[in-house]
Amino acid sequence: MKLEIGMISAAALLGLAASVVILMGAGGGETADTGYTESDINSASHYSRSSVKTIEIHRAEDEMQELTDISECTITLKKKSSEKPEVEVSCNETALIENEDYSLTYEKDGDTAGKHYVNVEMQGKYKGNTLLSYEIKPEAPSVTLYRVRTSDITVRWKADDKCTGCELEYSMSKDFENSKKVSLKNSDTEYTIKGLEKNKSYYLRMRSIVRGNDNEDVFSDWSSSKYEELKKIEVKDGVTYVDGIIIVNKTYGLPSGYGSGEDPEALRAFNEMCSGASVDGIYLYLASGYRSYSLQEGIYNEFVDERGTEGADRVSARPGHSEHQTGLAFDINTTASSFNYTPEAAWIAEHCHEYGFIVRYPEDKEEITGYAYESWHVRYVGKELSEKVTESGLTLEEYYGLTSEYENR
Ligand code: DAL
Ligand code: ZN
Repeated sequence: MKLEIGMISAAALLGLAASVVILMGAGGGETADTGYTESDINSASHYSRSSVKTIEIHRAEDEMQELTDISECTITLKKKSSEKPEVEVSCNETALIENEDYSLTYEKDGDTAGKHYVNVEMQGKYKGNTLLSYEIKPEAPSVTLYRVRTSDITVRWKADDKCTGCELEYSMSKDFENSKKVSLKNSDTEYTIKGLEKNKSYYLRMRSIVRGNDNEDVFSDWSSSKYEELKKIEVKDGVTYVDGIIIVNKTYGLPSGYGSGEDPEALRAFNEMCSGASVDGIYLYLASGYRSYSLQEGIYNEFVDERGTEGADRVSARPGHSEHQTGLAFDINTTASSFNYTPEAAWIAEHCHEYGFIVRYPEDKEEITGYAYESWHVRYVGKELSEKVTESGLTLEEYYGLTSEYENR
């Protein structure tokens, strides 16, 4: 597009949405040659154009020149004072000054991603050439989810289809010092950063990449950075807590002397749940609550006698590794696999989260929890967490990013 001011017709100006203002800086009244200047103009919002754009042209010795997108603009000239003319570029009015001294030409160069140059040429009393540059960038990706665990963070995002990929950067520092970067393909929509330092906080941000006019990568601005605290994993007196929640599974055990009975709050919630079920015509009762280390030892050994270690480990915890020892786990009605798929089991799966419980060993999660499906075993985690875990559709291990594996198999 090439426009020559002073020759442009009003018709050519119709229907143009943006406006550009070129201001000519203070001059000494003499003919001023602006010389050849280059400046960077960032147009961060190429895909969401704003309506007013500004170019400032100062004389050569002046500092910055500013330009955002100048596409679809027309140029008019205006006289600020007799000595200091302004060059105004606008779309709606053609305020061409009736001053034959001035004429201005500009040439714009494409609107694909990347760097572009605009040559602005003035003639007359203030004459010269100014080369302006601007860059068209893609929009930053919008990050939709961070799932934070004890040593990993999962990020999901949406990026423009035009993007060839994205870059994810994370660091413990707000200024992204010593940051790490991950390159992601445009087909990716989720990424899990693994192996982060436990009990630390991280800053994360993303930017998208498109193929520019010179066939080189053009980056968007960084998305605003997010601050995420990893879930705290703490061991106190031999008991592991994640985010304040006791964790007991094959990886995390309890001291043999731990526990003395059902947790009162959990038991109250359990009784409320039984009452709630009865309203729906479902009869639930406590089959097994708190189990001491030695009681669990007896149960586990019986399973070993019956099925061998491998078989026992699929259905029973080794002593010191049973959630029952916390006083927060309850077996409802039975521990027989015939309970799975009963109306009672279905009711528990659907409603236990309303009372602060989760089904701890869901179907098809043996690889993760370490145990075969137990529709009767619920664990009290409090209402806030039970809702979140249930909504996530994840096991407690997955939710926090934990393993469940014995050291000695
Ligand atoms: N049946 C569960 C895994 C336990 O023994 O604690
Ligand atoms: Zn149980």
